[in-house]
Amino acid sequence: MSNAVATYPDLKAKTVAITGGASGIGAAIVLAFAEQGSRVVFFDKDMNAGPVLADSLGNDVHFVKLDLTDADALSCRFAEAAAEFGAFDVLVNNAARDDRHDIGSVTPEYWRERLAVNLDHQFFATQAVIPGMIDKGGGSIVNMSSIAWRIGLENAPAYVASKAAIEGLTHALARDLGPSGIRVNCLLPGFVRTQRQLDKWLTPELHEQILRNQCLKQLIEPPQIAAMVIMLASSASQVVTNQTLVVDAGWS
Ligand SMILES: NC(=O)c1ccc[n+]([C@@H]2O[C@H](COP(=O)([O-])OP(=O)(O)OC[C@H]3O[C@@H](n4cnc5c(N)ncnc54)[C@H](O)[C@@H]3O)[C@@H](O)[C@H]2O)c1
Repeated sequence: MSNAVATYPDLKAKTVAITGGASGIGAAIVLAFAEQGSRVVFFDKDMNAGPVLADSLGNDVHFVKLDLTDADALSCRFAEAAAEFGAFDVLVNNAARDDRHDIGSVTPEYWRERLAVNLDHQFFATQAVIPGMIDKGGGSIVNMSSIAWRIGLENAPAYVASKAAIEGLTHALARDLGPSGIRVNCLLPGFVRTQRQLDKWLTPELHEQILRNQCLKQLIEPPQIAAMVIMLASSASQVVTNQTLVVDAGWS
């Protein structure tokens, strides 16, 4: 397998916001933009992994502590970051938490909390970056969904519903923001071999199921998702908007 990563010269001059960038796929996305020479600001609540990642990547990568379920704090931290580092050209709505739950145990409070972690902040982060993107004449927003809602992931109805809603949200935002030159696309990963997936969900049985269902008989790695995100952020995709890119090794 090749490790070659494309270079997109336009990304060097871009300021990029990434939610949930401290670990997993988000950390690979942070690294990918840093390698393009972008100025990167990532928002995460992980006070351990976040600063360590930022410190390892130099002066153009910045960690901002934020619990994305707090919409008021989100609005404040995004405004402060734009004032300090410049208005954002790119937003990657990546953060989520794929906790499992059986239907009978879900309370109204738990349901709301699941949607706050997995869906709401994608809208509010978008709302926060729009004025700056309009001033700059455009931008690119990438919303992370999942094939979970297409393949019917078990024991996670709130997560699955959120991921389906993100595809709908993408279409709504792309239509409203297109006249301002802002592109909005949605990316649906398949199973990606992050530390959390290894720690919590990847059993030998699931491993076998993944390889049986995928056309390509290999687990997907986080940098392979990040490579598609930077392509959607760059001018290589300058007339691509309102689209869903499925990156699942042929599962769905
Ligand atoms: N890993 C997979 O197999 C897979 C498959 C399909 C889709 N996805 C999607 O890709 C994206 C990244 O997934 P991942 O597997 O890297 O997740 P992960 O759990 O490994 O990392 C998520 C990051 O988001 C942060 N985060 C979570 N809740 C937060 C909050 N309230 N405030 C601030 N930060 C918060 C975490 O601290 C963490 O750094 C998600 O949108 C997920 O739904 C992942």
